[in-house]
Amino acid sequence: MKRLFYCFIIFLFLVYSGVTAQNNKNQNSNIPENLDLGPETIDLSKTFNVKSPTQKAAIFPHRFLQEALEYQCDLCHMSKEGGALKDQNTGKELKVAEVKGAGNPIHTNFCWPCHTKMNVPQGRVCNKCHK
Ligand code: HEC
Ligand code: HEC
Ligand code: HEC
Repeated sequence: MKRLFYCFIIFLFLVYSGVTAQNNKNQNSNIPENLDLGPETIDLSKTFNVKSPTQKAAIFPHRFLQEALEYQCDLCHMSKEGGALKDQNTGKELKVAEVKGAGNPIHTNFCWPCHTKMNVPQGRVCNKCHK
């Protein structure tokens, strides 16, 4: 009887550690603790101070893309922790002066090259971002 009891305890322990391991996996080991994830969504017309907009503001789905890109912050930022944005063509810091017209560097050097490279469906269709 006693032996049966110990077997049961060991069984419970094994189940428990299996569940814990699963939970830790879900919490994503790529993210360092206390990392500032930043805003969930970002109105980029405000970030880049667009003066005379002709399009609806692009609301950037920051958290959605962090998850979709598995928390590899340095795909878009200069470091694994965030910081300045990365020019997708040169790998250097993205430089944005006045945002005007469809030839602006946010399109040509940031959003569009990655959408093209990663085959994002309708990744360059205007109302994917301006809506
Ligand atoms: C798909 C591109 C993309 C990815 C991936 C991404 N970010 Fe961002 N992030 C942006 C953009 C665009 C902004 C807005 C521009 C800015 O604030 O410099 C931003 C802004 C931020 C801000 C706010 C900065 C400020 O000055 O208010 C933080 C903090 C941040 N990101 C952290 C992260 C972290 C941490 C990760 C990884 C877990 C990450 N980001 C992944 C594109 C991205
Ligand atoms: C480093 C790569 C990368 C960059 C840079 C990037 N994106 Fe994306 N974006 C993606 C990927 C990958 C998807 C598709 C994700 C998915 O559906 O799983 C996507 C999807 C989107 C979507 C659709 C989200 C949805 O709900 O389906 C929007 C909107 C978007 N991006 C906006 C932007 C804007 C605006 C910029 C520039 C400020 C930008 N992205 C820059 C990789 C990027
Ligand atoms: C992948 C996302 C994305 C797509 C697709 C996209 N844009 Fe943009 N666009 C932006 C971002 C981000 C900005 C800067 C922030 C803002 O203006 O909201 C911007 C800014 C602009 C601007 C300058 C600001 C203004 O309102 O006049 C114009 C013009 C523009 N886009 C036109 C277009 C046109 C036309 C298309 C379709 C051919 C298009 N964009 C597709 C993300 C995108």
